Amino acid sequence: MQLRRPLSESKYMHLGEPFSEHSLPEAPGRVVVVADDISRRVRELSEAIAADYSDRELTILAVLTGSLIFLADLIRKMPVMMRVDLVSVSSYPGRTTTSRGPRVTTPWTADMDGRDVLIVDDILDSGGTLKMLREAVLKAGAADVRTCVLLSKSRDDLSERVEPEYVGFDVPDEFLIGYGLDYDGFYRNLPDVRALAQKPEASP
Ligand code: IMP
Ligand code: MG
Repeated sequence: MQLRRPLSESKYMHLGEPFSEHSLPEAPGRVVVVADDISRRVRELSEAIAADYSDRELTILAVLTGSLIFLADLIRKMPVMMRVDLVSVSSYPGRTTTSRGPRVTTPWTADMDGRDVLIVDDILDSGGTLKMLREAVLKAGAADVRTCVLLSKSRDDLSERVEPEYVGFDVPDEFLIGYGLDYDGFYRNLPDVRALAQKPEASP
């Protein structure tokens, strides 16, 4: 009986580094933000948001799937009256590492009329995702819309990018994985944020 698939058959081999799902994974790339720093900074963000919304009712709109882990850590101890709603947006279908433009794949369900909304995402790159969502939420009647990201990619080429009100870390313009961020759907479960050593070839 074969209990383990040979490493060469692992789905993770396309990155050129071993990461077998049947043994302790050896994560690819180099660490950009370590788990301890993430948890410290997420706590600071949570406190800052709590202070700003202490006397208000908050509607959090989290952008799936990347914000999943950040969202859970951010709100867990945040002493604010809040509702949480979800929207799914896809910009990097499959093995792509350049954005194809944001597309809502599952809409949110909450009534946004008159609400104070905080959109939470994992990372700001071109800003297209948050721009699109901010406009849509305002159009749906929200009274106030702010945005929060764990990571913001340094992009000198984008002078018009709207910066979020709450940012965890400025990070280099590389393709990142871990703590919710994926490549081709994988690596969201890594505890640190890591940069892929080489940009894998984009496929259609
Ligand atoms: P933007 O619309 O160009 O700002 O890209 C933001 C969205 O793209 C985020 O919600 C992420 O899901 C995804 N994204 C951007 N950069 C990365 C990355 O380096 N790794 C994984 N996902 C990314
Ligand atoms: Mg996303």
